[in-house]
Amino acid sequence: MKQSSSSHLCFPNGWFRIAYSNEIPPKTVKPLHYFGQDLVLFRTEKGVVRVFDAHCSHLGAHLGYGGIVKNETIQCPFHGWCFNNSGNCTQIPYTNKIPPKAQIRTWPVREVNGLIMIYYHSQGHSPDWEIPELPEFLSQNWTSLLPVIRRKSSTSTQEVGEGSIVDTAHFSHLHPHTFDEIKGESLVVSYPTLTYKMYPEYNLSGVAKILGVEGKTSLDFTSYGLGCLVVRSSSKAMVEIETLTMFLLTPINQNSIDFHFLVSIKKVLNKPITALLKKFIKDSAIKTLKEDMKIWENKIFRTHPLLCDGDGPIAQYRRWVSEFYTDISVPL
Ligand code: FES
Ligand SMILES: [Fe+2]
Repeated sequence: MKQSSSSHLCFPNGWFRIAYSNEIPPKTVKPLHYFGQDLVLFRTEKGVVRVFDAHCSHLGAHLGYGGIVKNETIQCPFHGWCFNNSGNCTQIPYTNKIPPKAQIRTWPVREVNGLIMIYYHSQGHSPDWEIPELPEFLSQNWTSLLPVIRRKSSTSTQEVGEGSIVDTAHFSHLHPHTFDEIKGESLVVSYPTLTYKMYPEYNLSGVAKILGVEGKTSLDFTSYGLGCLVVRSSSKAMVEIETLTMFLLTPINQNSIDFHFLVSIKKVLNKPITALLKKFIKDSAIKTLKEDMKIWENKIFRTHPLLCDGDGPIAQYRRWVSEFYTDISVPL
């Protein structure tokens, strides 16, 4: 994202996805780069997931390139020092005298909803909130929550959140195939979550017509910090259509984020109809997000946007966002 202020020159605090649980079996070691830093992710033989700063405290080798899991430790590829789950060196192959400072910084990690998430804080504070388990993820009545978009995008977590949640005025113009009008909105802000509920009027010549959508539709956004946005929608058509989509946004550096978009739907009637419905939802979301990306990746961030009546609660959103930055104040 192009910068027009300093507000994006640091990263927001909070939980961010860095991998999917099923892609990291025991003994996996993976190099990562997020928040402008080199990291290493590994899973021990017993299945514990850990994320450390990447570089060994000895002579600085990157543990993610050639490091191996040895029981419950990770072993550096260079001279074989082993570091336990707490990041402390527990073994050096050629001496029993382990230097007291032989340790590597560890990151808070959680596995929840099939995701591996780490907690970033600009001043290294411990997490003061958690990402909840989603009932839909655990339910047999819902399809697996799977990524349908995974890409590096030159924007920021804040732009995506602002553009997806509270910028209601863009829907009918940028995405005319989705909504005609947004009716009844409610915004509830309570650190660390922001929830926004709206009742859109679907454009009945678009996808909604194909699905036979009628009557009341609701869209429910819950943002857990700036890294995880859950969107639930419910529409009445030939059957009740319920979807859960998720934006997972992780800063890579000051100019780009990892953008992942996941879809799950409540199963209907039978497998083929569920699969068809899921494909419709997925294709429609991808089309919409492509339109958004073109805007997000080329716009500038206006610190003092010129807002008008009908623009949606952008100022309230920015006030909530400012709670996730500790080292600067975010202009509204
Ligand atoms: S650099 Fe890691 S053991 Fe020497
Ligand atoms: Fe959009």
